[in-house]
Parts: sequence; structure tokens; C-alpha cells
Amino acid sequence: MIGIATNYSDIEARHSSGVYGLRGMTLVRGEGAILWDDRGRRYVDCTAAYGVASLGHCHPALVAAVRDQAQQLISCPGIFANDQRALLLQELTKALPAGLDRVFFCNSGTEAIEAGLKFARLATGRPGIIAAMSGFHGRTMGALSATWEPHYREPFAPLLPGVRHIPYDNLAALEAALTDDVGAVLLEIVQGEGGVRPGSAGFLLGAQRLCRERGALLIIDEVQTGFGRTGKLFAVEHYGIEPDLLCLAKGMAGGIPIGAVALGPRAGHPGVGTHGSTFGGNPLACAAARATLRVLHEEQLPQKAAQKGAFLLERLRSIKSRRVREIRGLGLMVGIELRERATPYLQALQERGLLALSAGPTVIRLLPPLIIGDDELEFAVRVLEEVLSQP
Ligand SMILES: Cc1ncc(COP(=O)(O)O)c(C=O)c1O
Repeated sequence: MIGIATNYSDIEARHSSGVYGLRGMTLVRGEGAILWDDRGRRYVDCTAAYGVASLGHCHPALVAAVRDQAQQLISCPGIFANDQRALLLQELTKALPAGLDRVFFCNSGTEAIEAGLKFARLATGRPGIIAAMSGFHGRTMGALSATWEPHYREPFAPLLPGVRHIPYDNLAALEAALTDDVGAVLLEIVQGEGGVRPGSAGFLLGAQRLCRERGALLIIDEVQTGFGRTGKLFAVEHYGIEPDLLCLAKGMAGGIPIGAVALGPRAGHPGVGTHGSTFGGNPLACAAARATLRVLHEEQLPQKAAQKGAFLLERLRSIKSRRVREIRGLGLMVGIELRERATPYLQALQERGLLALSAGPTVIRLLPPLIIGDDELEFAVRVLEEVLSQP
């Protein structure tokens, strides 16, 4: 019927599985760090679609790469080589930290974790997995077993046996838990969902040393921190960590679904048929990932994320609000821990044109596109100040 606007939120509420708490608005268009809803309202995006749209929305180089590749070849299974996949393998292994010179492609973060856990099991033959409290690794059964948050895990028990959670950033606890049945130690460099908590160099390098001494593999989950988010192309570079397996996804192809696990020398050679993915390494996603890597490099986005992140942290720390407990982060991965629940504040920010995320019950998480402009960051700080300092 002409004149009656379609309520897309209602349709989603009625017909989707219901696993997402809808925010009551419909996004229809994006450009750079700006999003528009179906009523023409404009928002500054500090979510980057959960840290995915690091080049901003509809970056011309990404749009062109996807359009050109869609006209060339979209699907090509792993049994046939493909030009885009081969070139991405070459370019990615060149950009990765030393030693990570083979890659398995999949389609999401949780799949990257599943592959990492399987490769570690194959290489070591050991079933034990150590992960950290407040860690988040995904929602499929293996990755979920390593995820900490009990309300994500408990409804699905029994999960993988042999998973132990230690307090994050506590090397003594890791040392005590790392027995000779442990094949994998799975850690984030900055815990994302768990509240934006950067780990210390001592803990992470200590974990690497202990893994080498005791025959376990160190799996670093850079699904959220990878591809420039923290101010380096990969967050492991902050501390010179050389993981045995590095899990990647989110920002890797600027918003086109992709995931990957990079394998170092201790990860062995998983044989033919040990793992696979129908969509993994498809030419469309590979072309998008190549364009993303090129733009990250040409526009020096990791360096910009470091500068903008430092500016954002400084400006946020100057906000005077009794509601704020702590502000922390690395690069453009920033958490504002409140003394109360974050959800009402996310809604208040949204009403004022700023989109942000939560990270656990009390943390407001900012993951803006790495291309965000200074004016847009200023706007974000102004709106946060207004909302957080209300009486
Ligand atoms: C650190 C980390 N690992 C894994 C995942 C799972 O990724 P996906 O949602 O793509 O399965 C996430 C998602 O937020 C994440 O932040």
C-alpha cells in the first residue's frame, strides 16, 4: 500500500530466530563512518558492525573489488586453485608475523577457532585446552567450550571435555594449569567481549614460553584485534609474540564474510581431508580481503588507529562522570566501564545519533571504522560526555 512505510524491525521481530535483542531501528545505507536508517536519520558508527567494517562503509576500493570479482568468478572450491586465493595467500603470509606461512580459510571467527583447536589437536595429540576467564571465542560447540561467560555456555552443556579456564593475565595460574595433557592455550591479546581488557606483555610472552617448554601450542585469537584495530596490523606485534596458530576474521575483508587460521612451524601439516569448508577461500571473499589489505597499507590505517585511539582515550578520560569506573583500550578498541548497566546508555547514545556496543553488562565498547574522521570522533566524545554526565 502506498504511503505506509514498511516496519522492517517488526518483520525481523516476527520472523527471525529471536537470538538478537533488536535495537528498534533499521539501517539501510552507509558511507565511511556514517550510517543512515530507513527514516533518513544519520548516525556516527562506533560499532563498525562488531569491528568488521574497518575501512568504513562502502569504501570505493572494496566496492570495486567485490563488483569486479563478482563479474569474474564467485565460487571455486579448495580442490581447484584460484588466482585471488593464491594472491591473497601470498600477500597475507607476507604481512603476517614471521613463521606464519600457511593459511586455512573459512568464513567467520568461530570457524577460525574451531580450525585452530583441531589443528592443535592434530599436531600435539593432546586433548586439553586452556582458555581464560572473560575470554570470548565464538558460539559453535568447540569455540563455545573455550568461551568463558557461563550464560553463553551453560545451556549447551556438556561441551568439549578437557577445557580449563584460568584468570586472564595471571601467569602463575597458567603455569599451574599447563599439564602434559594440554595441547592448546587459547588467548586474546585484548579481551573484547569480556570487557576490552588488554593483556600484559609479561603474561602473553610468558604464555608463549610455557607453551614451548611444555609442548602445547599457543593459539592467539585475533578475530577482533586483527587487521589494524589495535594500532598494529596484528596485535601480537605490540609484544613480538609468535603464535603457533593465529585466528583471524571480522575486519579481514572489510565486511565480506571471511575467517582464517595462520599456521606456524610447530602447528605441523594437517593432512588432506582433516578439515575443510565449502565456502572457505571463495574468490569473492579473497578479492575483498586483498583490497582490504591494500587499503590498510596505502592509507596507513593501523598507524591512524593508534593515533586516533590515543586521542579518543585521552578525551574520554577527561570526561567527569561519577558513572565511569575505568576507561581502557588499545588503538580503536576502547571500553568505558561503568558502575552500572551499559544498555540504557547505549539507547541514549543511539537517540542522539551515536551507535556503540556493549562488552559484558557494564562496559560501553567503541569499535569505530579505522577511517573515522576527527570531527566524527569529536562528535562521539561530545555525545558520550552529554549522556554520561547527566544528573
Ligand atoms: C575474539 C573473538 N573470537 C571469536 C569471535 C567469533 O567470531 P564470529 O562471530 O565471526 O563467529 C569473536 C566475535 O565477536 C571475537 O570477538
